[in-house]
Amino acid sequence: MLKTVIAAGVALGISIPGFAADVTYRKDIAPLVKAKCGTCHGAESPYLGDFSENKAKFEADLQGPRMDTYADLIFFVGWPDTGALMRRLDDGKNAGGKAGNMYKRLGSSEEERQKNLALFKAWVGEGAWNLNRWNAKGDVPAITKEAMDKIKVKY
Ligand code: HEC
Repeated sequence: MLKTVIAAGVALGISIPGFAADVTYRKDIAPLVKAKCGTCHGAESPYLGDFSENKAKFEADLQGPRMDTYADLIFFVGWPDTGALMRRLDDGKNAGGKAGNMYKRLGSSEEERQKNLALFKAWVGEGAWNLNRWNAKGDVPAITKEAMDKIKVKY
């Protein structure tokens, strides 16, 4: 029963008291990123600025931008690559759309992927799992200040 309530809460973006508040970078996210993302986004990977300048070359080597420190990771939540972490890790269920292309990296089973997605969502913050970019793109509006204010990413 509790499990169902938690799953429903996560799906609706409602925080479960005592869960979201406890998720921190140091305790939960750093080990998860190291385990699931480290081979392509680790210390050997380029800083986002370098990656952006030579994207094709790094992509050909299966290297994404580095995300192995707190500072390097939050670029993909807030700015300059606003919402990139959310767009890439999203399972596509909320928008009824396609999952982001890094969703499959969250785990080897659907259960593990959902568990790790819930951790990322709780870390980013209640109501802060937005796929918007800094600037509007096509039909998708730019992120709002109100949405930015919800970002927690506790260290
Ligand atoms: C097998 C290698 C690999 C793994 C593992 C991997 N990624 Fe990636 N990732 C890439 C590559 C290559 C790119 C750049 C190409 C692209 O945009 O898809 C990328 C791009 C991204 C981007 C977009 C970056 C930008 O500049 O917009 C995000 C965010 C991201 N990954 C998050 C993650 C997270 C979080 C994990 C772990 C759950 C992960 N990735 C696991 C290879 C990987």
